[in-house]
Amino acid sequence: MPINNNDILIATTNPGKVSEIQSCLGKEFTLHNLKEFASIQEIEEDGKTFEENARKKAIGYSKATGHLTLADDSGLVIDALNGAPGVKSARFSGDKLPNEERTLIDHRNIKKVLELLIDVPAEKRTARFVCCMCLAKSDEILIETRGTLEGIIIEEEIGTNGFGYDPIFFVPSLNKTVAQLNQDEKNIISHRGNALKNLKEQMKNIF
Ligand code: IMP
Repeated sequence: MPINNNDILIATTNPGKVSEIQSCLGKEFTLHNLKEFASIQEIEEDGKTFEENARKKAIGYSKATGHLTLADDSGLVIDALNGAPGVKSARFSGDKLPNEERTLIDHRNIKKVLELLIDVPAEKRTARFVCCMCLAKSDEILIETRGTLEGIIIEEEIGTNGFGYDPIFFVPSLNKTVAQLNQDEKNIISHRGNALKNLKEQMKNIF
């Protein structure tokens, strides 16, 4: 059934994520974020998979607000760690401490990954960033997409751009870590960029 309303709630409070999604979807969509709905209860990301978390947030926030809602969940999957940190990527080295800066959390997460991989040789340090997106209207799932970026976890941090695990995630085809790419270069190859491109394609069928 076609949807005539181009207002979409993005299930995040992160303005960077909203502007990245806006630049991919285009100006015909009016995007809102969770800061506009301060009184609604936060939905816990306690699923076992990225898909489950994206679905849970899209349906939960759509039901709570009455808006068409787009949610994503992303993280790093390392083969030698049986898929860890996976859905626990943001809190791999423990929960956020009161007033702790995002960069400090990122730093201790990276430290934990490098310690766990200390004896793992280069050829076994394969990994991927994964991003799952879900667009829902109330409890109906309209679109689900998944994007990945393949790479290798190197032994030390290189580069200062980006966030999270970017400085240790090396992309062989570019001979750079993700933290050595600017935002536009990252969007072209990233897991989030790929999931978004796929989403935009499928949205043409329902809007
Ligand atoms: P979220 O889905 O945006 O909440 O991301 C979960 C966590 O996965 C982040 O806190 C990062 O630790 C990690 N992550 C997700 N995407 C990226 C990325 O593009 N670069 C580096 N780390 C990422």
